[in-house]
Amino acid sequence: MKILVTGGLGFIGSHTVVELQNVGYEVVIIDNLSNSSEDVVNGIVAITGKKPIFEKLDLREKAAVENFFEKYTDIAGVIHFAASKAVGESVTNPLLYYENNISTLIYLLQELQKKDDANFIFSSSCTVYGQADVMPIDENAAIKPAMSPYGNTKQIGEEIITDVAKVSGINAILLRYFNPIGAHPSGEIGELPIGVPQNLVPFITQTGIGLRKELMVYGDDYPTPDGTCIRDYIHVVDLAKAHVVALQRLLDKKNAEKVETFNLGTGVGSSVLEVIKSFEKVSDKPFPFKIVARREGDVTQAYASTDKANNVLGWKTESSLDEAMDSAWKWETKIRNK
Ligand code: WQD
Repeated sequence: MKILVTGGLGFIGSHTVVELQNVGYEVVIIDNLSNSSEDVVNGIVAITGKKPIFEKLDLREKAAVENFFEKYTDIAGVIHFAASKAVGESVTNPLLYYENNISTLIYLLQELQKKDDANFIFSSSCTVYGQADVMPIDENAAIKPAMSPYGNTKQIGEEIITDVAKVSGINAILLRYFNPIGAHPSGEIGELPIGVPQNLVPFITQTGIGLRKELMVYGDDYPTPDGTCIRDYIHVVDLAKAHVVALQRLLDKKNAEKVETFNLGTGVGSSVLEVIKSFEKVSDKPFPFKIVARREGDVTQAYASTDKANNVLGWKTESSLDEAMDSAWKWETKIRNK
């Protein structure tokens, strides 16, 4: 029995491969290396001592996807991470996002619907909620018009999966991530942003290491206690463990519906200034930043209700913001001192 992890050499994918191997699953990774490196396989092996099967393959090639499933006939579950995920880039290059994030999903589902029984876990995002009306955000919150093509591909992806599951043997779990941060405590794998990081935490750690001059804080005039945006920053290892629990739920046929949805967050909202304060604490040095204008498309606040994940999925986060920031900082110092 094998588990396919698409995008398995990426940030969340690689951490999930580690957690799958830790509990005995045999993992097959598909990755096209467009936003990752094959070196990540060595990091995974360094942690678990087990080498996952790695197939370099672009899921946009329908024939390659068909050939993969002809070769691997014992895939018991699929965890689908492979997608483009930069909000800003999706605005300037929407077709790249619609092709990469939607056609790959369709080709995967076309293969899975040939099976009598297939288990599919989809990497979704809290971005589908836009600016939710009520905090914390639960899974029944309204799905608002997407604020970016990236967010739209997640909404469309969820709808496609729901429609296909109704008429096939596919059972699916949609996992809506809040803000994944940090790195594996071993320092063997972590986030490897290409170019200038768009996300807050890798920009902070690169500033801390001296790669960036200072952090631009995008606005301190929001209606929040300190004026900066609030998010739910979840340790990537906690997030990875949620995928193992979700997979086991499907394999054990414990899912209550053909498609289930779970928000994955800590339930705690942290402002940008609070994240900076956490970084100063773990790095033990002052941090250079300046307040600039708001960033287009940012929501004021988003943090998760953890009730359904805790009570139905049977999972909860274990790491604090400081522990996540500490792991991110240790990773940054390690990769810059290689
Ligand atoms: C967090 C906060 C910024 C950078 C996005 C996607 C989401 C997921 C995570 C893929 C905001 C502020 C940031 C900086 C700043 N992506 N910030 N200066 O926008 O909440 O979520 O990334 O899965 O789907 O929507 O994350 O880290 O970009 O921003 O002040 O240089 O940090 O304004 O308030 P975001 P982020």
